[in-house]
Amino acid sequence: MTDTALEVSNVYKVFGKKPRDVVKRLKAGAARNDLTALGTAAVIDASFEVKKGEIFVVMGLSGSGKSTLIRMLNGLWEPTAGTVTISGSAISGIPAKALRDVRRKKISMVFQHFALLPHRTVLDNAAYGLEVQGVPLAERRERAQNIVNRVGLSGWEEKMPSELSGGMQQRVGLARALASDTDILLMDEAFSALDPLIRREMQEQLVDLQHELGKTIIFITHDLNEAMFLGDRIAVMRDGRIVQVGTPDEILTDPANDYVAQFVQDVDRARVLTAAGVMEPARSVVSGSAGPRAALRTMRDTQASSAFVVGNGRKLLGVVHDVDVLKQVKAGNPDLMAVVRNDPATVGPEQYLVDLFEPAAESHLPVAVVDDKGRLLGAIPRVTLLAALANVPTTTGENHIIESTATVAVEVITQTLRETAGLTDEVEMTRPAYADDVETAKEGSFN
Ligand SMILES: Nc1ncnc2c1ncn2[C@@H]1O[C@H](COP(=O)(O)OP(=O)(O)O)[C@@H](O)[C@H]1O
Ligand SMILES: [Mg+2]
Repeated sequence: MTDTALEVSNVYKVFGKKPRDVVKRLKAGAARNDLTALGTAAVIDASFEVKKGEIFVVMGLSGSGKSTLIRMLNGLWEPTAGTVTISGSAISGIPAKALRDVRRKKISMVFQHFALLPHRTVLDNAAYGLEVQGVPLAERRERAQNIVNRVGLSGWEEKMPSELSGGMQQRVGLARALASDTDILLMDEAFSALDPLIRREMQEQLVDLQHELGKTIIFITHDLNEAMFLGDRIAVMRDGRIVQVGTPDEILTDPANDYVAQFVQDVDRARVLTAAGVMEPARSVVSGSAGPRAALRTMRDTQASSAFVVGNGRKLLGVVHDVDVLKQVKAGNPDLMAVVRNDPATVGPEQYLVDLFEPAAESHLPVAVVDDKGRLLGAIPRVTLLAALANVPTTTGENHIIESTATVAVEVITQTLRETAGLTDEVEMTRPAYADDVETAKEGSFN
């Protein structure tokens, strides 16, 4: 089993008198604009793969070729050159009947204007795709009812489309596409005609449905915020070409060219970037079983006034502050846990930066990023948060401003460590034992 739902390889679509000629010239390096007399190159050399269960967004300005591209994905239009493959089988050049089967069983489409049948009820509209497939009445009504409930239209089954608001009509269109139970759903500007609040509601519902039903969704939009909200990955189109494919984070933080950079400059970054996308490796970290001396040394070496304290499996136990730890060391008390405060601000890796302002503002410590088992994944110092929002690169490593600066002078710490050496039976460590863990976390899936 492959995890590829759909593959597009070197696909071209040219409208006009001499489409193949245009493709030949484009391949030889001719510019699109110099070939307008021969035809319109709507899609040029598109190649990408869509993984099963992902929401893949195609984004671009009006006229960039999005609709033409999506219509080739379900065989509505035949590519001038190149191939489209759905779950391993090519759909270009196959007989009409086979193509109809693909459209009924594998890939369904939702348009901007859902073209509901005006004289049929909500339920019958939702069941329409199944009717075309020849599914018996009782079964198709049952399946349609199921989906109608899921898209939030329970109680509206017997209404006519004209009795519904725009947003509800879109839900019927969505229900119709979902009822066919195809693995892949194509959506061409499906929410573009909705007003903003209803639109956001539909976007959220689509993400929920995708999680529930595990569909592969290819979603077209000219709206960048919509693309960023929905897309697991986004393909950016310009003048018929795909100029970048990447995650929202990648596209925001590493745009492939000036066009993409300009395109994304107005994005509300706080609602797109996630904690995992901007976090730093937590550097000031000590093991709960390490003593106060080790903790103090770590804080000195990382020039931080506090350290995260972790237990088994990097589970975050709390934080220690240099002043408290210094007292423990001076008193010869080997118990670090006695001075651990368990109130560090924590967030989950998937949380958007917009949710981080409050915890960041309330704490002068970096916000800790922890997974659902409470394990420390990384840290977000306030500077990093601000830099991410302003799209300024932060350098890690030698850049010490990313940690809160020490409140106890390095000389005092060093002096104290020297004077108290041997007072406790703690083993001197130049490199704390958890360091490998921290390195592993850094190289993990959050790069
Ligand atoms: N049937 C067609 N005949 C001729 N030109 C077309 C046709 N469909 C689209 N085009 C042209 O192809 C280009 C891409 O259009 P389209 O795919 O609709 O872009 P988008 O969906 O991104 O707005 C445009 O220049 C458009 O005028
Ligand atoms: Mg379009």
